[in-house]
Amino acid sequence: MKVLVTGASGTLGRAVLPRLLVEGHEVVAISRRPRAGDDVTWLRADLATGAGLSDAVVGVEAVVHLASAPYKRDYTTEVDVHGTRRLASAAAAAGVGHLLYVSIVGIDKIPFGYYRTKLAAEVIVRESGVGWSILRATQFFQLMDLALSYAAKLPVMLGDPGIAGQPVDPRDVADRIARRLSAGPSGSIEEYGGPETMGFDDGVRAWLSARGKRRPLVRVTVPGKLARAFRGGHLTTAAQPTGQITWRDWLAEHA
Ligand SMILES: NC(=O)c1ccc[n+]([C@@H]2O[C@H](COP(=O)([O-])OP(=O)(O)OC[C@H]3O[C@@H](n4cnc5c(N)ncnc54)[C@H](OP(=O)(O)O)[C@@H]3O)[C@@H](O)[C@H]2O)c1
Repeated sequence: MKVLVTGASGTLGRAVLPRLLVEGHEVVAISRRPRAGDDVTWLRADLATGAGLSDAVVGVEAVVHLASAPYKRDYTTEVDVHGTRRLASAAAAAGVGHLLYVSIVGIDKIPFGYYRTKLAAEVIVRESGVGWSILRATQFFQLMDLALSYAAKLPVMLGDPGIAGQPVDPRDVADRIARRLSAGPSGSIEEYGGPETMGFDDGVRAWLSARGKRRPLVRVTVPGKLARAFRGGHLTTAAQPTGQITWRDWLAEHA
């Protein structure tokens, strides 16, 4: 199958490209910058303007839409909402059979600006007229690692013991995406999380130990509606199957 991947240079995209090649797909990837790779055809396109999109979808059977520009105010809306609309219109006009959009677990329950743009993008995908699937994933290990690296700049690790996460390895998400492409459009929202639900103590202790750091853990109940929504368990999912790779596996590999 000829598959177009947006956001192919990102954390998830870098896991998705080799997985789709193993599957035997012909892979076209878009980026705002010139890029090259042996087995992937890289094209330049920009979701914020629409430039390059109509060329990118020519002959494409499925689009895996991963591109996103989080925490950039109006630019986020331009890329994630209007950019998704531009992509969906180009896909519909080109007769693409499957538009697979990667979203985030909990976006419909957590009052967070970036999540509202993801929710708006989901609606566009669902109403695109193209066969669609939405895969809502939990946070990637790389994001957790980055957040803890910032937190560790303080002499203590501050955290809310009531907040649980279920982070996942992008390679597991890539595997799920490849399986969904083979199965065809589901016309539904599927959730996908990592193999373990982790609280503050567990997650931070494993990270400190892997990074060879010592910090006392200070437990605080964070005020506000965002933290309350996080405490409501909305960062986790009961969906099966889950990823296989654990936080400790990932940390051992990224020591
Ligand atoms: N990170 C997480 O923990 C997490 C968890 C669940 C779901 N997700 C979702 O998974 C998807 C991938 O996340 P990620 O963390 O892999 O992203 P990422 O590493 O931040 O990469 C973002 C990608 O978006 C592309 N992009 C940004 N602006 C663009 C524009 N104007 N036109 C075209 N492409 C543009 C970038 O491509 P170039 O720079 O090459 O143009 C880059 O490849 C996102 O939809 C995200 O919401 C992420």
